[in-house]
Amino acid sequence: MTTEDIKKILLANRHESQELFAKAVALRNKTIGDGVYLRGLLEYSNICRKNCLYCGIRSSMDCERYELSDEQVIDAARFAYESNYGSMVLQSGENSSKEFVDKITKLVKEIKRISSNKLGITLSLGEQSYETYRRWFDAGAHRYLLRIETSDKQLYKKLHPNDAVHDFNARLEALYNIRRAGYQVGSGVMIGLPYQTMESMVNDLLFLQELDIDMCGMGPYIVSSGTPLATQLKISDAKELHEMSNRDVESGYIYSEKFRLELTYRMIAALRLLMPDINIAATTALQAIDPMGRVNAIEAGANVIMPNISPNEVRENYFLYDNKPLDFDSHLLEGNIRYGEWGDSLRFKNRRQ
Ligand code: 5AD
Repeated sequence: MTTEDIKKILLANRHESQELFAKAVALRNKTIGDGVYLRGLLEYSNICRKNCLYCGIRSSMDCERYELSDEQVIDAARFAYESNYGSMVLQSGENSSKEFVDKITKLVKEIKRISSNKLGITLSLGEQSYETYRRWFDAGAHRYLLRIETSDKQLYKKLHPNDAVHDFNARLEALYNIRRAGYQVGSGVMIGLPYQTMESMVNDLLFLQELDIDMCGMGPYIVSSGTPLATQLKISDAKELHEMSNRDVESGYIYSEKFRLELTYRMIAALRLLMPDINIAATTALQAIDPMGRVNAIEAGANVIMPNISPNEVRENYFLYDNKPLDFDSHLLEGNIRYGEWGDSLRFKNRRQ
């Protein structure tokens, strides 16, 4: 697919987009099957050294900070294991202190132990050194998620403080190191960001393809109250997606929630067509806009859901954006969920052969 083909997909009318979703689902079913795999998502800590302009747990946000106790982590892991989720994700704000690295190493080993090696472990713990990635891999984690957030360097600069802690090239380097350490590599972007043109989103897909990712998580941008990006937004009143002009976008108008949602479904479907054998998550942010958001994403070509397994008392503190849903109703997908399986990325397996 060329840049123009993908752009057409993003700008399709309602009827065309229904066809697109059907095509993406058919290709997914043919390539990797119709199963939906679960990863229980545990939000380990909201302590973060980064200060991203869009994020509700950015370091300069005045909010209560927490780190789960070992017992809380193991209880959640046991819950995921006993509920037959197959896998869990350990996610956290970014921290690379020695205490943190040691603690995660210990927890990964412990989760493996209490589940007799049966629970798959994905990490989503930000940019770390190669040595750290390697240590956690050797401890038993086998997948790693690190969103590039946007592949557009200029946009990246607008969304992050301009300092060494928020460096696009360092993030890309981290993705290479994750692969080198042996993990299945997941990345992704936010969709419908302020200043993000349609071309920029098309390039995101081509970037992910070029990076040859094994897994993808991408979701709509959601305004997060109290962040710098939340204050300066003007929401576009365009009636149709194609009416959003680059000039509007460049002067700070953002896509309505409805468009951000629709664009995310289309991005998922387009990525499925570009990379039929990867795992694509139906992300939590979709459900912040629409109660059926994650289910719709599955029906647009995604195949992974990450139900939240964080202890109730901290859920309110891991507040990445407004209206973040606290739960997922797995009954909605009952027939397709493959309990107790890792559901590793087929692309990863194929590359290894
Ligand atoms: N809207 C949508 N997604 C967000 N994230 C952080 N802040 C927001 C927001 N305001 C996403 C980032 C990060 C993931 C854990 O949460 O993409 O990688």
